[in-house]
Amino acid sequence: MKDLSRDHYDSVAMLLHWAIAALILANIPLGAFSEQIEAGLEASAMWLHKSIGLTVLLLSLARLAWRLTHRPPPPVMEGWRGRLAGAVHWAFYALIILVPLTGWMRSSSSGYPLRWFELFDVPKFAIAPKSAEAAAVVTAHEWLAWTMAALIALHVSAALHHGWVRRDGVVRRMWPQAASG
Ligand code: HEM
Ligand code: HEM
Repeated sequence: MKDLSRDHYDSVAMLLHWAIAALILANIPLGAFSEQIEAGLEASAMWLHKSIGLTVLLLSLARLAWRLTHRPPPPVMEGWRGRLAGAVHWAFYALIILVPLTGWMRSSSSGYPLRWFELFDVPKFAIAPKSAEAAAVVTAHEWLAWTMAALIALHVSAALHHGWVRRDGVVRRMWPQAASG
């Protein structure tokens, strides 16, 4: 079988992929369990959730810009698998921007201050509390975040399948060691 790991992503694409993945994997439980976390801790969990999320937004804009200006390695698969992988990848580029953006909009209508890691204030969108827009962005943030979680499950299953079952070198395309190879 052709060893696909000869082609690999550049180091900036890899760094952004793994940094964003780690931050998102931390932020989904922080958002989802915020209500279950003890009352006193809830505020600090949300503070972290918002700061991590805003960081994801910044990194994702940089990542999209990098992706549009740097050619990735050639696609791995033909047929429906290749089309599915491509569709999921582009859906991710949209979601890693839209999920934090709707979170930011959602927080704009609340009375809490919005600060990035206690370092500086982040401006808010003009969304009135209890308005139709405020309700819409709450729903949007929730649905987009869960859609992203489902696609992550699919994407990670596919990566594990390539790594452990097909052993075709696809995972090494995104694995830093490959950068020197
Ligand atoms: C990687 C980015 C993000 C992910 C994956 C994410 C994910 C989630 C998830 C899964 C929930 C629980 C669903 C719900 O109860 O509605 C949630 C809730 C929430 N998120 Fe995010 N979020 C992100 C970014 C942000 C940002 C940037 C902000 C604000 C600046 C934000 C503000 C909120 C708020 C206020 C809640 C409601 C928490 C509660 O119910 O008490 N999120 N988020
Ligand atoms: C958790 C959030 C994650 C997001 C949003 C994400 C997003 C993406 C995107 C958009 C691409 C396509 C890059 C491009 O062609 O421009 C990609 C590729 C890849 N991802 Fe992820 N990823 C995540 C997590 C993971 C995890 C946990 C793994 C491994 C278990 C993984 C393994 C890979 C691999 C191996 C590729 C390269 C596929 C190829 O060569 O065609 N990803 N990821």
